[in-house]
Amino acid sequence: MTQIYGVIGHPIAHSLSPVMFNAAFFEYSMDARCEKFDVKPEELRKFMVPDVDKRHFSGLSVTIPHKETIMPLLDEIDETAREIGAVNTVKIVSRGSAGEKSARTKGFNTDWFGARKALEEVTSLDGKRVLVLGAGGAAAAIVYACRKAGATVTILNRTEEKAKHLADRFHCGYGVLSQILTHPAEVLVHTTSVGMTPNIGVSLVPREYFRKGMVVMDIVYNPLETRLVHEARMAGCRVVPGYKMLLYQAEKQFEIWFQKKPPTQKMEKALLEALGA
Ligand code: ATR
Repeated sequence: MTQIYGVIGHPIAHSLSPVMFNAAFFEYSMDARCEKFDVKPEELRKFMVPDVDKRHFSGLSVTIPHKETIMPLLDEIDETAREIGAVNTVKIVSRGSAGEKSARTKGFNTDWFGARKALEEVTSLDGKRVLVLGAGGAAAAIVYACRKAGATVTILNRTEEKAKHLADRFHCGYGVLSQILTHPAEVLVHTTSVGMTPNIGVSLVPREYFRKGMVVMDIVYNPLETRLVHEARMAGCRVVPGYKMLLYQAEKQFEIWFQKKPPTQKMEKALLEALGA
């Protein structure tokens, strides 16, 4: 029987996870399919409790707004996901003799891995000063990744309280976005949705912030090159486009589900095609 790997979120229409995973399943001739499930917040419990909903899945990719609320609905949570406070991957760890009714679920977080791999392709993080813009769920995984890799991190956010809350959890500095020019760094990571299609003409970073050789990553991947990334590149920065984190977090999801490396290049090709490259 074809195994179903779901991606759940709300809204979900824009998700590119099926593009990547279905390319991987095709490449490896696997009898599996990745499908989108639009699950509203009030429907999440019903979706996750197999006694109530017999929907069959072998694994899940979890996106906004369920990354935190799914946690109490899982049987086990990986330690790193617990530390970050968010789950973006669910694996069925055992099915038991009663089939789906006794299926045990385990939650993981692969966003931090995706961010770290994308950044470490262009720079080491150990001992570096990293400035993170934004303090939401994505920022938490990125801050965790950078701290784990030995970086010193400062978080700037529109709402200072949220920056402080995240900074306290991971022993970072914090402030508000308007202070950016007083926080020089070797690595800048933008984690808010500013600059995303259709509002592509905007960036939170004044051009004078950029220095030649600085590493700049934007987690916005649509458009492929945001205004932030464009201006950073023009200023001589080493840039990391947002799709890289998306690709590498999916790569890690595949490894968790199947205990083997995925065909990452095929996934990247499919992703870039879907993004109109
Ligand atoms: P995600 O899980 O994708 O990180 P989130 O948890 O809703 O999403 O976090 C969104 C982040 O983007 C927050 O840091 C938010 O700032 P606030 O904490 O002040 O809300 C930031 N953000 C969203 N829109 C923004 C805007 N127009 N300007 C500045 N920051 C913005």
